[in-house]
Amino acid sequence: MRYAGDANGGTVSTPQDKCRPPTVGLSEFPRNDHSPPVAAGDTHPEQLHRRHYHWLRAGVAVTRIEYAQQSYWDGYFKDADLDWGGLWTQPFIPLLQSAGANDVLELGCGSGHDAARLAREGFNVVATDISEEALAQAERRYGDIVQFRPVDTARELPFLDSSFDAVMANVALHMFSDTVTRAVFAEVRRILRPAGLFLFHVNAHDDRPLRERWRPVLRQLEPDYVLEEAGQTVRFFSEEYVRMLLAGCEIVILEHLEIPHRKTNEPFKRVWRVAARTPNETMSARLP
Ligand SMILES: C[S@@+](CC[C@H](N)C(=O)[O-])C[C@H]1O[C@@H](n2cnc3c(N)ncnc32)[C@H](O)[C@@H]1O
Repeated sequence: MRYAGDANGGTVSTPQDKCRPPTVGLSEFPRNDHSPPVAAGDTHPEQLHRRHYHWLRAGVAVTRIEYAQQSYWDGYFKDADLDWGGLWTQPFIPLLQSAGANDVLELGCGSGHDAARLAREGFNVVATDISEEALAQAERRYGDIVQFRPVDTARELPFLDSSFDAVMANVALHMFSDTVTRAVFAEVRRILRPAGLFLFHVNAHDDRPLRERWRPVLRQLEPDYVLEEAGQTVRFFSEEYVRMLLAGCEIVILEHLEIPHRKTNEPFKRVWRVAARTPNETMSARLP
């Protein structure tokens, strides 16, 4: 079993976090059923991330830089399992229970342990990931209690409006550009029911120097968004950025955590633990 590891780095520190509300339209947000082609032999991280995809929807051509590919995560899960114990899920369970939640979606579920923890508590759990390797592991272990589905979080989510009482994502929302991150948050709001819970952990801004020690950075793609030598794209979230993404929601928990290394007890990872509730009425912050 592998104790999670995400690192970060980045020698350039540009203050980012332009605090404007999510404004990305679905016309700029690729659908899950329109996966971009992956060129054969296109394996070097620089190549993977330099490719620009052009989307034409509703008459709007959009160019975006791709984030870490499915191949990166398939490679990761080929020889690894990933389980943080109850660290991510345990604090969310009382919130889900007191909200009377039933239908819960997990985005970026990895090998499925957290989805299973929620299912064992009696929630009806759908769990998604981009990695077929991760989903195969998850299905083998927990396919009888969780519905696992291959979904790219960075594309329009294949769920109807107001489908879930809660959406959970643990260290699985940090792969994307600013534009895509805003669109993902808007999509989560769309599929949450009124007064729905959005529960997540994301890399904190001050995780960057910790992560850089063991995950060197190849280059900075955007402020607070880097491409690592290993091929992963990683974003670091300031409190201001988290609050901006959740504009209009009630913030129930916004807690900065420093997680020690399980062997050395040295600071290992810093994250935000966040729980937010959408308004009672259907979100007016729906995409334009
Ligand atoms: C750091 S792991 C966390 C996994 C799990 N949530 C956990 O805490 O063990 C990040 C997860 O996000 C998934 N992921 C990365 N990019 C994704 C994307 N675009 N769409 C869906 N899942 C993605 C990876 O396959 C991986 O399972």
